[in-house]
Amino acid sequence: MVCLGNICRSPIAEGVMQHKANAAGLDWIIDSAGTNSYHTGEAPHRHSQAICKANGIDISDQRARKFVASDFESYDKIYAMAGDVYLEINRIGGGHADMRKVDYFLNELEPGANASVPDPWYGNEDGYEPVYDMINATCEKILSKYGNK
Ligand code: 4NP
Repeated sequence: MVCLGNICRSPIAEGVMQHKANAAGLDWIIDSAGTNSYHTGEAPHRHSQAICKANGIDISDQRARKFVASDFESYDKIYAMAGDVYLEINRIGGGHADMRKVDYFLNELEPGANASVPDPWYGNEDGYEPVYDMINATCEKILSKYGNK
């Protein structure tokens, strides 16, 4: 799960997807990263932590890190939260990474639409609930698509 800062959107996606996978008895390893390093080492934004906590998910132990080229080797599937993030993932991959592994996160809800999860960093706390709902619905879709053991 990849966004820009790895403090607002992708930590929610990591927390929600890991929670659903665990609850379904799947051994999926979910991780998140940001395409920039402005917040490396920081815990998720307090509003991201709060909306997850309100939904029974604790993401306080997560720490921001930058997306690296070796993530293409480490993970089967890479989701970009937004269009700018998708382009940065490709750039960090050096132009020769396997971009078939990468998709817009919201394409799992609306295939091919290439829509972006709005960045709540630029607004107030009210922005986090719709973002959470969007992420939750998409994670549910991913679970139903790939979670059949
Ligand atoms: P995120 O939000 O990509 O959802 O973590 C952002 C957080 C910080 C910044 C941009 C987006 N920033 O520019 O510091």
